[in-house]
Amino acid sequence: MTTEQRHQPDVLKQYEAPGVVVHWEPKLCIHVSNCVRALPHVFNPDARPWVNAEAASADELAGAIETCPTGALSYVRTDGTPQETPASPTQVQPRPNGPLFVRGDIVVIDAEGNVTRRATRIAFCRCGQSRNKPYCDLSHLATGFRS
Ligand code: SF4
Ligand code: FES
Repeated sequence: MTTEQRHQPDVLKQYEAPGVVVHWEPKLCIHVSNCVRALPHVFNPDARPWVNAEAASADELAGAIETCPTGALSYVRTDGTPQETPASPTQVQPRPNGPLFVRGDIVVIDAEGNVTRRATRIAFCRCGQSRNKPYCDLSHLATGFRS
């Protein structure tokens, strides 16, 4: 985890570029680094800000963002190009000793029946120890969860 990411307030950050707006939700980011591997000149944890959205095309950004398993990264196309297509059928993937990766047209509903999130990608906590339930916050590493 970088210093910038540790000190991020839990607010949605936006990075605008031609044809697309990139959203990053720090609280959901578990630093899988798929984004960094996909576009290292855009997603650089050592840079400030760590997202340089103008360093790639809207299509390249969208492709990289869709590799983010947690939904911490998402985007809104502003150039008329279709938005992200949810996986169909819905995919549910338990990660070894870690969260449940889900991809699809996801609606999260709380105990009172309120919709708390709509998303295409989410990492749900599977160890029961997250302080950001129902989402994984990497607590499974500290607690030595095995499954
Ligand atoms: S791929 Fe998603 S969860 Fe992983 S570091 Fe990038 S934003 Fe965070
Ligand atoms: S599975 Fe990651 S915090 Fe529970």
